[in-house]
Amino acid sequence: MSRYIINGGHRIYGRTKIQGSKNSVLPILAATVLVRGTSVITNCPEITDVDATIKILRHLGCRVTREKNTVIVDSSVIEKSDIPDDLMREMRSSVVFLGAIIGRTGKASLSTPGGCEIGLRPIDLHLDAIQRFGVNIHEEYAKIEFEAVKPLEGVNIALSFPSVGATENIILTACTAKGTTVITNAAREPEISDLADYLNSCGARISGTGEGTIIIEGVSELHPVQYKVIPDRIVAATYMAAAAMTHGKITLSGVVPAHISPVMPVFEEAGCDISISSDGLTLTAPPYLRSVKTIRTMPYPGFPTDMQAQIMAMTTVCHGTSVVIETIFESRYKHVSELLRFGAKIRADGRMAVVEGVNSLTGASVIASDLRGGASLVLAGLAAQGTTVVDDIRYILRGYENMSGVLSSLGCDIVIEERNSADG
Ligand code: EPZ
Repeated sequence: MSRYIINGGHRIYGRTKIQGSKNSVLPILAATVLVRGTSVITNCPEITDVDATIKILRHLGCRVTREKNTVIVDSSVIEKSDIPDDLMREMRSSVVFLGAIIGRTGKASLSTPGGCEIGLRPIDLHLDAIQRFGVNIHEEYAKIEFEAVKPLEGVNIALSFPSVGATENIILTACTAKGTTVITNAAREPEISDLADYLNSCGARISGTGEGTIIIEGVSELHPVQYKVIPDRIVAATYMAAAAMTHGKITLSGVVPAHISPVMPVFEEAGCDISISSDGLTLTAPPYLRSVKTIRTMPYPGFPTDMQAQIMAMTTVCHGTSVVIETIFESRYKHVSELLRFGAKIRADGRMAVVEGVNSLTGASVIASDLRGGASLVLAGLAAQGTTVVDDIRYILRGYENMSGVLSSLGCDIVIEERNSADG
């Protein structure tokens, strides 16, 4: 297992360009299956979730080439309509291919996506919605088969929860269905708008993204385009937290400030100064961080669950007591036990965690067990006195492009130690 070796205590100082959004590029690459021809997707981050997505595209019959941050997908010929079991296990968000595969081929087959490190991750909202388009669904223990018994027809769908993935799958299924689809209580994340912007540039007719109701007028076909993915708001906020914890100053270029607005009040309550200019977004940390009364994760535009672990790491070195409430996933506190190894003072009970700030953290040997929890351990290592080893960083490499290179360029002392599996 590869690992990071970090010598903490270095202030972050400098600027960095933020990578393309993982949670945008995955559904957009899946959406290329709906488009006959060659799509050119730019600003794709070099992360392992994109590698896994490319494997699925090639399995389906697409010809895919990649030149650094550009992925070129020729989906003229689609030969299969299943997502292989190993790839479903490698990346459960592969479920977002469902709508695109059904929209293109009229059928699909995937293995039941297991839970993951942060919760059970059911897909009932996806299945209930897709069934309403006239798709027969046959569930067994390990496999789910889908078959459109007639041409897909638009429907009205009221989501009981604004699920990001379910909203994306409904949009993908509805794009080339006959008639109009209306989604109420739809997710409002910027990644949904980015998916819609890509599809609309291909000739789709989607409106209302970013609000609670999305309307999709089905079209007969979509044409390929070149499209640039939005920047990753969670990666941006992660590096903001790193600057805050090391009492540094960071300028992020290429960010969309509006996408970061849900986390700004938390950093400002902790005493950070945030300014926005043509140069980008700059965060200047205070000499001492103040505690944050309550961080409650909510669907966008609320505080993002994907920043919960990283902000919890920040509150461990804030003066005073902070309270974190995780309302989206039922077990997204696996990073707590590892943060305690740095000398943090955290009490987690159910969906609530109470963090009592300490004067300083001490370097520790810790193990990442999920993407954002792993990032929070790196942040703690940057702030801690002494050396930290973060093991099993494959989780982090799923979503952060060259994290050690970026942090080193900002003044941190962090190196990646490649270890093959034989080293354990
Ligand atoms: C997306 O996951 C993101 N992943 C997640 O980011 C993010 O945490 C999540 O949205 C919430 O913002 C991608 O975009 C690839 P949901 P998704 O459907 O679509 C429940 C990261 O770190 N639910 O909005 O799976 C579910 O269990 C990842 O980048 C159902 O009950 O999230 C969860 O409690 C982690 N039934 C809640 O809704 C369903 O059918 C939110 O899930 C679907 C979801």
